[in-house]
Amino acid sequence: MPAPALSTSGFHHITMVSTDAVRTLAFYRELLDLDLVKKTINFDDPGAYHLYFGDEAGRPGTILTFFEWPHTQKGRWGVGGVHHLALGVATREAQLKWKRRLTDAGVEVSGPLDRGYFTSLYFADPDGQILEIATRGPGYAIDEPADALGRELIVPAAERLPGGRDEVAIAATWPEPVPAVTDDMRLEGIHHITGITDDIGRADAFYQEALGLKLVKKTYNQDNAKTLHYFWASYDGATVGSHSSLTLFDWPGSNYWARPGSGQTHHIAFRARDDDEQEAWRDHLLGMGVEVTPVMERNYFRSIYFKAPDGLLLEIATDGPGFAVDEPAASLGSSLKLPPWLEERRSEIEGALVPLP
Ligand SMILES: [Fe+2]
Ligand SMILES: [Fe+2]
Repeated sequence: MPAPALSTSGFHHITMVSTDAVRTLAFYRELLDLDLVKKTINFDDPGAYHLYFGDEAGRPGTILTFFEWPHTQKGRWGVGGVHHLALGVATREAQLKWKRRLTDAGVEVSGPLDRGYFTSLYFADPDGQILEIATRGPGYAIDEPADALGRELIVPAAERLPGGRDEVAIAATWPEPVPAVTDDMRLEGIHHITGITDDIGRADAFYQEALGLKLVKKTYNQDNAKTLHYFWASYDGATVGSHSSLTLFDWPGSNYWARPGSGQTHHIAFRARDDDEQEAWRDHLLGMGVEVTPVMERNYFRSIYFKAPDGLLLEIATDGPGFAVDEPAASLGSSLKLPPWLEERRSEIEGALVPLP
């Protein structure tokens, strides 16, 4: 009997590049109210912080991580890179509260824009990483049957394109200041990640075969209706998994490449259930002719790395053992953690890092 086909249940984490860990901490922990779940260093570059944010336990799908590289070049989005990261929020009302809170903090915000499948608010972090806060719903089944997503090429309605939009709704904000993040505003982790490819057909074949993701929406970019925009996700033919939507804009034949650096995504990681499944993923990718690294020990998970055909760096990370492996679950992120093999260099490593509040 053939082995069941592998399919990832979605994102494990996304890793971005910051030039200033103190500023990044203030933005993601104080302003966006994410939990700092691990304060450590880059295992491949111990002079640099590696900060992990997420929900209180740092569950897969909610994890945002940052390498701090103070002197790195400024990154740029483009082909083979991520354009933006969207974080989920429950309701439009909560989204408007976010707009007010961010605007009052001096962050430039655009939207909310009705994207049909969800409503979107856009802004950027202090390094220029484009972020979005997207509502949980209404979801992908508004214009095709829930059990037949991704079959038809959908032309966005005129009211979702420039010139036809409800400008009053876009200009709206919350009437009161929002000095504290209330329960209803809680950000729910990765809603979707959107990148740019130079060949969407090739990307479709790759993500379906390599990761077992399914095409759940074929449409056009609502800001530039000549550009194809495809969505893939963990989808069993009935339900689209949360924290699993990868979307790409198609720039066929373009050589406007993404440039790595600050304000850019370094890589995105998908989930493997455990070590055995990760071995199976590795064999599966090698069998496709994809170059894959050996399994790497990341203390909180184990990782393999490979590239999408357009150059985007991808990872598959195990769900376990998780962030409580080296400090109590109730006080994650409170002290600098080093992997066992760097512990003997602690005073040297700590001495070279700017202390974080
Ligand atoms: Fe988006
Ligand atoms: Fe990673």
